[in-house]
Amino acid sequence: MAIEFPKGFTWGAATASYQIEGAWQADGKGESIWDRFSHTPGKIENGDTGDVAADHYYRWQEDVQLMRDLGLAAYRFSISWPRILPQGYGKVEPRGLDFYSRLVDGLLRAGIEPWVTLYHWDLPQALQDRGGWVQRATAEAYVEYAQRVARHLGDRVKHWMTFNEPWVSAVLGHHFGMHAPGQRDLPATMRAIHHLLLAHGWAVPAIRQESKGSQVGIVLNYTPAHPASDREEDVLAAHLEDGWVMRMYLDPLSGRPYPADVVAAKDLSLEVVGPGDMAAIATPVDFLGLNNYTRQVVGQKYDFELGVKKGDGVERTEMGWEVYPESIYEMLMQVSRDYPFKSLYITENGAAFTDRVSPTGEVNDPQRISYLRRYLAQVARAIAEGAPVKGYFVWSLMDNFEWALGYRMRFGVIYVDYETQQRIPKASARWYRGVIANNAILD
Ligand code: FCB
Repeated sequence: MAIEFPKGFTWGAATASYQIEGAWQADGKGESIWDRFSHTPGKIENGDTGDVAADHYYRWQEDVQLMRDLGLAAYRFSISWPRILPQGYGKVEPRGLDFYSRLVDGLLRAGIEPWVTLYHWDLPQALQDRGGWVQRATAEAYVEYAQRVARHLGDRVKHWMTFNEPWVSAVLGHHFGMHAPGQRDLPATMRAIHHLLLAHGWAVPAIRQESKGSQVGIVLNYTPAHPASDREEDVLAAHLEDGWVMRMYLDPLSGRPYPADVVAAKDLSLEVVGPGDMAAIATPVDFLGLNNYTRQVVGQKYDFELGVKKGDGVERTEMGWEVYPESIYEMLMQVSRDYPFKSLYITENGAAFTDRVSPTGEVNDPQRISYLRRYLAQVARAIAEGAPVKGYFVWSLMDNFEWALGYRMRFGVIYVDYETQQRIPKASARWYRGVIANNAILD
């Protein structure tokens, strides 16, 4: 039976600057924390770096053509802060602004709406050298950066996302250390969380001022936590984990304090919170972006591995993440029940599998199609039950640099041969094109 989506539903695909652009030193770009991190031996699988990535900086025109072939209505990409402000603040690099300006024009000519993420983790290294997100000054520098970009592109870009997944920036970057800047320091993590949210709150009115009539939002990641058993301590652990990943962001964004149970359980210091900060963070947004891939099963012992133990017969993607389509439904229902956002977008959802090019030059990825079909069906189910979901962006448009895991993880609906930089739309791209064209899943 066909699964239909509401009229005017926005169909898109997403990428991020460091994962696809390459050209890490081109046209006056400054060093980012991901350049520094990936150039540090031992940090990235296989010694991979984003130096060249999918070479999108030079191949963007071909990529826009591929998006057009897909029938995309919207393209979510991020801007590299150090391309615009190589030192993080102060002197602007016009060639950086020009690159994004040309891309935006190219997208609009192709009938594709640009959706811009201002921060997808590639902080200028110069700001990191002054303490990065642990310092309040970085939030001030961010507002200047956001303003400059909005001033330059704001006549044509009408959808802005201030941050992608502050949990990942703060926690993977400052607590677990597997992402740039590679710190392992819980007090610093709380400071980073607060400064990321503060930068967001301050930037919202600044962007609106520069980009009249635009919509401004933020993107959060959510992996619903299920208790490993119905024992009380497991239920509590799962609730705390939800708090650490989600309520720590959604509560202050909705005008509530940082969740007391999480603050107490992790013994976090709120000294970092200054007068007026919480009100700034709670500045209403126009939409909330949500990224979901899987669920996690949590026992009373904190377990960072997503999902239950390996070898348990559970269906998984190459990332080791459980294929659990209901997770996207649960996320949407929970957020629409507990928080006041009027518009929700799935800003990322997708799967990594081992893709191979066949002797005839095709990439068949039935597992990805099956994953997307089942997750999208759950999105439709949430909409039918009242969740205000207005659009869906597949992660990702094309294969790219998957952070600490390098190039092994292929998330694209378009295959990238990193030797030749040839792009090959996978079978999932053709399938997704059909979904977009029909505004429905027909098969
Ligand atoms: C998300 C990131 C995105 C990509 C996917 C797989 O956490 O936002 O850049 O790495 O995961």
